[in-house]
Amino acid sequence: MNLTPFKSQTIIEPFRIRSVEPIRFTTMEERKSLLKKAGYNPFQLKAKHVLIDLLTDSGTGAMSSDQWSGMMASDESYAGASSFYRFESAVRDIFGFNHVIPTHQGRAAENILFTTIAGKGDVIPNNTHFDTTRAHVEHNGAEARDMVISEGKQPQLIHPFKGNMNLEALQETIRSTGPDRIPVIMLTITNNSGGGQPVSMQNIRSVSEIANVHDIPFFIDACRFAENAWFIKTREEGFADKSPLEIAREIFSYADGCTMSAKKDGMSNIGGFLAINDDRLAQKCRSLTILTEGFPTYGGMAGYDMEAVAKGLYEALDEGYLRYRIRTTSYLGEKLTSAGISIVQPTGGHAVYIDAKEMLPHIHSLQYPAWSLTNALYLLGGIRAVEIGSVMFGLQPDGSEKPAAMELVRLAFPRRVYTQSHVDYLSEVIISTFEQRDKLTGYKVVSAPEVLRHFSAQLEPVE
Ligand code: F0G
Repeated sequence: MNLTPFKSQTIIEPFRIRSVEPIRFTTMEERKSLLKKAGYNPFQLKAKHVLIDLLTDSGTGAMSSDQWSGMMASDESYAGASSFYRFESAVRDIFGFNHVIPTHQGRAAENILFTTIAGKGDVIPNNTHFDTTRAHVEHNGAEARDMVISEGKQPQLIHPFKGNMNLEALQETIRSTGPDRIPVIMLTITNNSGGGQPVSMQNIRSVSEIANVHDIPFFIDACRFAENAWFIKTREEGFADKSPLEIAREIFSYADGCTMSAKKDGMSNIGGFLAINDDRLAQKCRSLTILTEGFPTYGGMAGYDMEAVAKGLYEALDEGYLRYRIRTTSYLGEKLTSAGISIVQPTGGHAVYIDAKEMLPHIHSLQYPAWSLTNALYLLGGIRAVEIGSVMFGLQPDGSEKPAAMELVRLAFPRRVYTQSHVDYLSEVIISTFEQRDKLTGYKVVSAPEVLRHFSAQLEPVE
């Protein structure tokens, strides 16, 4: 027999499913009343009333049998647990930083870092601050300044690294603010609030050089580092033959530290860390960790969580996994684009972002078009997505409102959870919503807290 090798067109899920969790179906009538009861805020819905939950990719992934078995063999000692040393050695091996401080999740690492280094009058440059990062910077009296390249703000524009930092804007900020007032320069990989778009190795290197010249520490928000490494491998010249692990090591070799939410590319349900090279800064951060998280060899995680992260970080770097992961978003993106729906192009790592401003031009930004679309997806198909627009970013520190730069609906994919037929169903729901888009109306805020209002605000449709 001399068979021609078969080249598969389908990138299949690189796992088989041995433990399942039922999802529950509701009727549209039920969803109408559930959404009203939730104050028209999907964050306030009960998860059991959601069919496909794309609210976030954070902590919602499926763990591997290897992670579960590691958890069974954990060491829960208060101080010096072997689980901590396994965790620390994985983080050091991949990220290369000397000091590894475990935290219960990413924002705890942010809290410790910014409380330690940032104060009134300081400016923190970032490609785009994630909402918790911004909140921690501002909570410490500093200014969070976003400076992604202009291509990164144009949803339809195709560019391989739309998460890149605008280097001129960075230098101008250093010139006008003075390096003494910039305690750290951050880079978020991938750029979540800007469409899950990657940052190139070239840009990471340049930011690092600029930071070095001015003696400013350079930290990376590393949440989706493995996905970013895959984009570098597949889109940047010179990296095709390198493994995601080699690429990740190079990325972090240019930085002085990182904050990490292990709920993303740590493939875990909880956990995070702050990793630092500077001994003195690490010591200050450790002292604060004891106050707010726990003893520095568990810092907010159980031993079994640290075991899950130690294995998860490597699983996130597996090529077969990353190929499937990134194909999920491009597969949905292609279906939506061919139906005429505008999305952030090219599709990012963990999510597809629909351009609601483009889809719903009849809804003014301050009547929240992306919020309206998010609610319509729930009503029509039981899908839960998240608004990244003027509800999330519109409220200014002085209480006024300003339209956000973009009105996006993010469909974030939990890792290793949904299959291709879920994605096919999802595309049908979105396309049906698109076909009825003229019927969608805006919303108004009825009540909301002063910070991070999107989590608990109560809204009402504007008739
Ligand atoms: N940085 C980025 C870029 C993030 O996306 C997140 C979380 C954090 C920091 C904070 O990490 O949740 O572990 O405290 N993003 C989630 C999301 C919540 O849905 O995008 P955390």
